[in-house]
Amino acid sequence: MNVVPRDLMTENAVSSAAFRGAMRHLTGGVSVITAGRGKEITGMTVTSVTSLSVDPPTLIVSINRDASSFPLIRRYGAFGVNILAADQLDVAERFAGKGGLKGADRFAGASWVTAVSGVPLLVGALSAVDCEVEEIVERHSHGLIIGRVRDVKNSTRNAALAYWHGQYVAVDQDEDAARLADVSVPTHVRRGI
Ligand SMILES: Cc1cc2nc3c(=O)[nH]c(=O)nc-3n(C[C@H](O)[C@H](O)[C@H](O)COP(=O)(O)O)c2cc1C
Repeated sequence: MNVVPRDLMTENAVSSAAFRGAMRHLTGGVSVITAGRGKEITGMTVTSVTSLSVDPPTLIVSINRDASSFPLIRRYGAFGVNILAADQLDVAERFAGKGGLKGADRFAGASWVTAVSGVPLLVGALSAVDCEVEEIVERHSHGLIIGRVRDVKNSTRNAALAYWHGQYVAVDQDEDAARLADVSVPTHVRRGI
């Protein structure tokens, strides 16, 4: 049963700045959403991708309804989720609109393949996920897009691109896992004493 959204009477109790300040503490994995087909393609950098369920495989992404991807996702009922590797910072910046690049121009400089659904998928992404739109919930400035996963291309790469406190950071499974092991396992245990 779906719960009907409540018509909250409270005015915004917190300022946008306070809310943004809270959200800066969330470390987000960086992905590029791709939409459209043929020459009518676009995409955008996001941190809002999250898994919804494993069975069936579904995910959610929250995107601004003014973003150029939104009407194409709605029209074609499909989108790609390209989870970026640490060395794909330039792709993240292009799809965030750096340099004023728009639409198909954002795809230059990287290799793409066409998914079964027709959307472009990034060659060399940590994972490239082909999704069919299951539902779009329009709320406030954004659309919550529920995607049913139709295909997944996983790489064996393991250094991810994340965004935290307004900057890009690399999360390297080998280096950072070793560093975490250093702080979490007592020395005498590691040495087998
Ligand atoms: C690290 C990062 C994460 C972002 N995450 C989101 C997001 O989750 N949802 C969203 O609507 N915009 C997000 N944006 C903003 C869009 O990437 C940006 O507005 C993009 O240019 C929109 O595409 P358009 O120019 O084609 O409209 C993010 C930007 C950056 C740099």
